[in-house]
Amino acid sequence: MERVQPFIQRFNGTITGRDRAAMLGHKPVTVWLTGLSGAGKSTIAFRLERELMSMGHACYVLDGDNVRHGLTSDLGFSKEDRRENIRRVAHVARLMNDAGLIVIAALISPMREDRDMARAIVGNDSFVETYVSASANDCARRDPKGLYAKAQAGVITSFTGVSAPYEAPVNPELLIDTAAQTEESSVSCVLDHLRERFLVLQR
Ligand code: ADX
Repeated sequence: MERVQPFIQRFNGTITGRDRAAMLGHKPVTVWLTGLSGAGKSTIAFRLERELMSMGHACYVLDGDNVRHGLTSDLGFSKEDRRENIRRVAHVARLMNDAGLIVIAALISPMREDRDMARAIVGNDSFVETYVSASANDCARRDPKGLYAKAQAGVITSFTGVSAPYEAPVNPELLIDTAAQTEESSVSCVLDHLRERFLVLQR
């Protein structure tokens, strides 16, 4: 829940976004990867991180499976808990962007409304919604963590794509089809977009 804080005021520094971009070689951005479990979000996220780091850009991956060990370890997979998971991660992404990092968030984030909330928290101009698309059948066939089999057997309940909904993005900034694209071309697709809008060429 967002609360209004009546006696707490913001204190703004004097460093502008331009100052930061000139120093960092990029405008901070949050690449928000959404898609089913097993669609390839984490694979793309960590490969993208490696590429960006090798180009000299400081970045950090906020991965659903990882943050759920700490920051959001009190949350499960109800609609409300997923929303809270996404809200917290979006605020962390915003803080990391403020600190100058490129953030790559990899969360199923199945509901449109919740992704729109994340966009509003991070800021529309620095939010790149990226739909990592693969059908539930394809993901179930890959089943890298054996979770689809457990969901189909009823051992895991409310599993996205099996017993819980996934609302595909209507108008994402980027669409990656991992059934048709290689890992390399998926990462290139994001990198091209970042080069165009967020990476500063003269360093
Ligand atoms: S989200 O819906 O709140 O965005 P998040 O990305 O953090 O989900 O976590 C998804 C990961 O949790 C999956 O990749 C999977 O490993 C694990 N998981 C465990 N139970 C579920 C479930 N019921 N539905 C989806 N993912 C689950």
